[in-house]
Amino acid sequence: MSFFSKKQKQDLVPPHEETSRVVKSLYPLQSHKSISLGGVVIGLEAFSGDAFLFDPWEFYRSGIITSPAIFIAGQVGRGKSAFVKSFLYRQIGVFARQGFFLDPKGEYSALAKSLDIPVVKLEPGGSARLNPLDPAPGDLDLPERIAQRRSTLLAALAASGVGRELNPSERAGIDVVVENLPHDAVLGDVVDLLLRPTVAMAESLSIDLPALKRECQDIALALRRLIKGDLAGMLDGKTTIEIDWSGPGLVIDLSALYRIPAALAPTMICATSWISSAIATVGLGKFLVIDEAWAVLKDETVSWLQSTVKLSRSLGVSVVMVVHRISDLRAAGDDDSAVAKRAAGLLSDTEVRILFGQSAQEIPLAQAALGLSSRECQLLGELPRGRCLWQIGQKRALVDVLLTDQEKKLTDTDSAMRG
Ligand SMILES: Nc1ncnc2c1ncn2[C@@H]1O[C@H](COP(=O)(O)OP(=O)(O)O)[C@@H](O)[C@H]1O
Ligand SMILES: [Mg+2]
Repeated sequence: MSFFSKKQKQDLVPPHEETSRVVKSLYPLQSHKSISLGGVVIGLEAFSGDAFLFDPWEFYRSGIITSPAIFIAGQVGRGKSAFVKSFLYRQIGVFARQGFFLDPKGEYSALAKSLDIPVVKLEPGGSARLNPLDPAPGDLDLPERIAQRRSTLLAALAASGVGRELNPSERAGIDVVVENLPHDAVLGDVVDLLLRPTVAMAESLSIDLPALKRECQDIALALRRLIKGDLAGMLDGKTTIEIDWSGPGLVIDLSALYRIPAALAPTMICATSWISSAIATVGLGKFLVIDEAWAVLKDETVSWLQSTVKLSRSLGVSVVMVVHRISDLRAAGDDDSAVAKRAAGLLSDTEVRILFGQSAQEIPLAQAALGLSSRECQLLGELPRGRCLWQIGQKRALVDVLLTDQEKKLTDTDSAMRG
């Protein structure tokens, strides 16, 4: 493989030594038969030294996985984002794929610049605004698809705002509001209808008007927070972002909201939903990267993300979710077995898992949620920066991610931290 020079390989991968006894016990990871099926070079398989190539659609086509979605977990600083950046740099640069990024830390602009990808910064008081209720660009979006997407989005936003699961009346309230929205609706229309439902809306649910108002009040106030105060003007109103959806992609920089959890989660939900509907009609081979996805995995948004992943599969989109640890999926009141169950639900549609180093206390939960062997658990606690354990369906690999000098510059978050 000519992608890396011999010197680069030596520089980038410290020689890895294991006794043959240890190597044997790592079966199937030490298998000398590479699991690569083609795609871009990621790095080297740690035990065989073979080049490791990856493309989710190759595995999808071969039937090894049933969805191109990718789940990445690992402690801060282990190389998750660097992997995503180098992988997408190669996918977009070599295969002309498209990359759409939710960037909560504002760390993708160097990559975007090198690939000619536009960057839009969403910030309070800024000029960029997106309307999460937008139909897909063009006239191809079906009314029932628009309505379904709006209901799912509004339920996730409302649940994240009230910090609990919605009850059946609230869900019905959202559905009936969605039925009454115009084609060019904005969030303000939703809040108005929830605060002041009509008699016809109440009748369609066979309840009286005061009861409907009462039932919808909590979620109306939760959604109202998105259009008043800090977030005013960012998500409510006509979209001001104009991009070429057939171009190399888009970065949405959310760094202005990174330290405001109450603003970051709903904005990420809106932006993710907006992008997924916009790219639903653009060609095959798209990546939707949600870095720091833990921010949208709290509480009641897991099922929303799950439906985004499911829908994306049918639209040719590989959703790439980056989290720190499995316990990021914890909701209020969950014990470890409930967290593992929620994770298993999300991960059942995400058969490519890339695991970077985890702290010892996270490993039992990772084992339960990801079905790791005891050797894999041991490895997970010892992985140095840049080394990761891959699960692709039933296949396994231990991989050293290699960065070229150019990519090192594009991925350097250490110096960003140093300021
Ligand atoms: N495979 C690698 N080879 C060399 N440097 C790496 C590698 N992976 C990560 N780094 C460097 O380590 C730092 C932290 O990596 P990053 O991907 O930002 O961590 P995180 O896991 O928190 O996303 C970055 O400066 C990055 O360039
Ligand atoms: Mg990162």
